[in-house]
Amino acid sequence: MHVMHHVLRPNAAARRAFAAIACDSVKVPKAWYNIQADLKVPLPPPLHPGELRPCLPDDFAPLFPMSLIQQEISTERYIDIPEPVREVLELWRPSPLFRASRWEKALKLPQDVKIFYKYEGGSPSGSHKTNTAVAQIFYNKEAGTKKVTTETGAGQWGSALAFSGAQFDLPVEVYQVKVSYEQKPYRKAFIETCGAQIYPSPSHRTQYGAKVLQEDPACPGSLGIAISEAIEACVTSGGTAKYALGSVLSHVLMHQTVIGLEAIEQMEISGESPDVVVGCTGGGSNFAGITFPFLGQKLRGERNKIRFVAVEPAACPSLTKGVYAYDFGDTAQMTPLIKAHTLGAAFIPPKVHSGGLRYHAMAPLISHLKELGELEARAVPQSAAFQAGASFFQSEGILPAPEATHAIEGALAEAKDAASKGEPRSILFNMCGHGHFDMAAWQKWSEGQLEDFDYPDELVQEALKSVPGLNGVDWPMPSAD
Ligand SMILES: Cc1ncc(COP(=O)(O)O)c(C=O)c1O
Repeated sequence: MHVMHHVLRPNAAARRAFAAIACDSVKVPKAWYNIQADLKVPLPPPLHPGELRPCLPDDFAPLFPMSLIQQEISTERYIDIPEPVREVLELWRPSPLFRASRWEKALKLPQDVKIFYKYEGGSPSGSHKTNTAVAQIFYNKEAGTKKVTTETGAGQWGSALAFSGAQFDLPVEVYQVKVSYEQKPYRKAFIETCGAQIYPSPSHRTQYGAKVLQEDPACPGSLGIAISEAIEACVTSGGTAKYALGSVLSHVLMHQTVIGLEAIEQMEISGESPDVVVGCTGGGSNFAGITFPFLGQKLRGERNKIRFVAVEPAACPSLTKGVYAYDFGDTAQMTPLIKAHTLGAAFIPPKVHSGGLRYHAMAPLISHLKELGELEARAVPQSAAFQAGASFFQSEGILPAPEATHAIEGALAEAKDAASKGEPRSILFNMCGHGHFDMAAWQKWSEGQLEDFDYPDELVQEALKSVPGLNGVDWPMPSAD
């Protein structure tokens, strides 16, 4: 078979040709996959922060259009992707799936240890984030929203939303974590070129930002603070603005499943099946995007013997060192309480270069699946992640975003583990974004100046004191029936 030949005996030209072939025969999915349909134990509900009862759809109405709120709580297995959204996605989707044949060779891996990756960096903003940004802007436009506010860490999400705003003529206002705003000045230019507005967070535009700055004028910001500012900007708009989140929420994770749905088809075309699927985790959306469709097959009994590994920064290890408890999604404690692995909403993570991974909590769906034993997690220091990322780049020719280097490190660890045990293993990872806007970080790495941060135990212990879930707030774990 033609395609199989290209995948199993890859060379540089055939490798690119394989991607083209797979892209020709695979279409952008017509529906998203909703893993809530296949959960044997339902997801613990978000709680109203004042009344401590499960949230009702109307509780979210000041922030999101009802169509997205319905998606958040839906247990339908598939939800149709509106045609105007698919049309924009078709600008860069289906995204290519490559076999990392040159990297395998450089690593001197045995023939039966294979590495595949799905490349999401070809999107207009350079990462997977655009997959959900287009959908969220579409539903907001449809609902009559006049402006969408958001936060961004590394700037990937802000860029994705700004680009999507331009597709549907909807103004976008972005609060970018200050340390990233300063590290990545071209993100600002990108966002403004899309016609959107961007501000460093904490800022004086919101009451909460001003309060943070008064207490700590040098505050580097955090995703938790930027979320608080974007939400404040939304709720003080007199109902004209809505808010968009780039990760964490269940509907956001669902929008990313186009990645895994395409990957299933592409792997099938190649005659391969992954033994392990790896992704980096900040809030969990790209990891969910590539893993949930495979995990759904496993939960439905259509696939067995597959593992899923989430890789997070050692400086902000919510899944490996956080507590599983109800906590706020933001620092100002404005959001509903979500049951998640958390380091405490008051925790401000060290200034690692993976701005998109500096979030104190994990998506409730990922946390829940980890508690159910369906997922594994691993924490790595940024120097090890960048080292793996550079090795990948030198062979494969794609410079990864700092966040993506964590997935690469995870894939490398799997490959080395399989090789040392003499086991065959097919590894699939999500190469979620390119690092062309992250050259300051790569420069630091080349100059040997990339700093590793110890796990900030004391800061986390302090932040955990104000986690509601550790102070008696809980909701009975839903049962399987
Ligand atoms: C390139 C990239 N990868 C990963 C992430 C982490 O987010 P998530 O875990 O939701 O995929 C981000 C977030 O900004 C990102 O920009």
